[in-house]
Amino acid sequence: MTGPPLASGREADVYALDERRVLRRYRREADVTDEVAAMRHVGGLGYPVPAVYEAAGGDMIMERLDGLTMAQACARGTLSIDDGAAHLAGLLRRLHELPPWPGAAPGSRILHLDLHPENVLMTSRGPMVIDWCNARPGDPDLDTGLTALILAQVAVDERHDWSAAAEAMLASFLAAAPGEPARLLDEVVRFRDRQLSGTEPLDAAAERVLACAR
Ligand SMILES: Nc1ncnc2c1ncn2[C@@H]1O[C@H](COP(=O)(O)OP(=O)(O)O)[C@@H](O)[C@H]1O
Ligand SMILES: [Mg+2]
Repeated sequence: MTGPPLASGREADVYALDERRVLRRYRREADVTDEVAAMRHVGGLGYPVPAVYEAAGGDMIMERLDGLTMAQACARGTLSIDDGAAHLAGLLRRLHELPPWPGAAPGSRILHLDLHPENVLMTSRGPMVIDWCNARPGDPDLDTGLTALILAQVAVDERHDWSAAAEAMLASFLAAAPGEPARLLDEVVRFRDRQLSGTEPLDAAAERVLACAR
């Protein structure tokens, strides 16, 4: 790939191929098979996710979406904090209503497990969800709890420009979220700790979720 990426996240770079398509490439060894299967499954059920055209190894060619991330839209003031929180809650609710793929444990639902304002693009077709590498079947309260914990991590970090906004979004999200986001918080903290390889303390963020959920 030549030229700079269109955008980069924590794990992948995204390059424009043309007006319609992007290449998403992991910066580490990766196998996108399960991620692509999850995206195609939910996309086939009408969930707002980019279409995947081709996948191999750590590369995926997918539909190019327009618009800002939810985080960018909130920072620029084109989206209110409360509307952002309502979108997060609504996207999780809709996802957890979908039937999981065949072979999933009975009673389990599809979880995204990284649904936060950097992984939602505010497109002209409405909010769309990207970055499905953690998707798996499970208990929906894990998914809503993780979204809350990620918002709380920013809220408790006062050096972060977005700290006050994240605090407000957390409160609004918890008021609108489906299920019981604080029910499986210990498990959520263990999951997030593994995801971050123990690089960030999570106690203060977990306490903030509990305080806000009361
Ligand atoms: N289908 C897409 N169309 C346009 N931009 C995208 C698309 N997918 C991802 N991006 C951009 O690339 C960034 C990183 O993508 P993401 O899948 O979240 O990777 P990471 O795992 O590194 O966070 C996103 O924040 C977004 O700006
Ligand atoms: Mg991402």
